[in-house]
Amino acid sequence: MQLEAAMRSALSLAKRGLGVCSPNPSVGCVILDHSNNLIGLGRTSNTGRPHAEKNALDSLTTSARGGTAIVTLEPCAHKDSSPSCAELLVNAGIKHVVIPLLDPDKRTNGKGVKLLKESGVKVSIGLLEKESLDINSGFFFRLKYNRPLVSLKIASSLDGKISTFNGNSKWITGDLSRLHGHSLRSNHDVILVGINTVLNDNPKLNCRIKGIEKYSPVRVIVDSSLSIPITSNVLINISKIPTIIWVKKNIITPKKDKLIKMGVQIIELNKRNNKLDLREGLKDLANKGFNRVLVEGGSKISSSLMADNLIDKVFLYRSGIFIGGDGLSSIASYNIKNLDLVKRFQLLKTMILDSDVLEEWDLVN
Ligand SMILES: NC(=O)c1ccc[n+]([C@@H]2O[C@H](COP(=O)([O-])OP(=O)(O)OC[C@H]3O[C@@H](n4cnc5c(N)ncnc54)[C@H](OP(=O)(O)O)[C@@H]3O)[C@@H](O)[C@H]2O)c1
Repeated sequence: MQLEAAMRSALSLAKRGLGVCSPNPSVGCVILDHSNNLIGLGRTSNTGRPHAEKNALDSLTTSARGGTAIVTLEPCAHKDSSPSCAELLVNAGIKHVVIPLLDPDKRTNGKGVKLLKESGVKVSIGLLEKESLDINSGFFFRLKYNRPLVSLKIASSLDGKISTFNGNSKWITGDLSRLHGHSLRSNHDVILVGINTVLNDNPKLNCRIKGIEKYSPVRVIVDSSLSIPITSNVLINISKIPTIIWVKKNIITPKKDKLIKMGVQIIELNKRNNKLDLREGLKDLANKGFNRVLVEGGSKISSSLMADNLIDKVFLYRSGIFIGGDGLSSIASYNIKNLDLVKRFQLLKTMILDSDVLEEWDLVN
């Protein structure tokens, strides 16, 4: 097997762990024997441990002595209770380690490579670096900016509307788009919506793809005054799908106590410009170890995040209908006077989903 093909396999393994490995990055590892035959593979386990290298070594069909390990991130050098991944690879007799880039985590950053080299292992760095960065952009983001990567998901008409004037949004897009939307939920750690979306749509915000329901993200509702009805669908199944509500400081209502007893986490945030400070909320999520947040509206939450420069990616599902000027825009007004000041996104991918189209956009830095 060629090294690039092995790295692509390792990257696709890593992709499968997105949404379930935080606070760890999701890493893939492929092991080749001394003749470059595939003899083992693994990815970071759900919840982050064991790491990919340990899982790949545990899956070996024959000895790895003299072989090559292709890993999508620098093997860790921190031990905790078991040997580090760099040590495990050395102990298994691996002679060559191929990685796209160093781990930004201070406990490892360069130390994994140093340990390998000092043990006589050849280390090659740089293969498919951009692809690896893309997969773990949430992890890199959290370490660099102390907030998770934020993706905005929009289901809109051709004219950019997300509901009719009277709040009807079920369904703008078709079955296949909605199914795809559930796969997005599964590979994010957190799903976030504004309270009006809960009040109007009563969503469950879980992943309903058979077999991966357990990958449902943690739910966050932005609700300053706790207007959420206790019977809302997002408050069902809290023991399995944790639910957080962001509220204003020092809120005192019997509902707050009731929600806490039900298992809801209430996080008090400061206000900025008379609205909850979403940046502060995202920082709290980063401190909890979450790497990837999916925002599913509505219009006001999306515009606040956009205005604060807190949207990094957009997944836009568009269907072939026009709702018209009285419909709700995907982004509420945010007072743009000069287009030179607008943040720009660039198109990364498009996908036809029956009669809808999905566009994936990335912020231009
Ligand atoms: N098609 C789609 O993709 C899609 C997706 C989601 C929603 N929707 C539609 O969108 C509609 C709801 O959107 P919406 O714009 O009315 O409401 P929203 O964005 O769901 O919720 C806005 C509310 O969140 C609270 N909030 C607290 N802090 C905030 C902050 N910093 N910035 C913004 N809001 C903050 C405010 O209520 P408090 O002051 O009470 O806290 C605010 O009124 C629904 O009709 C729904 O069907 C469509």
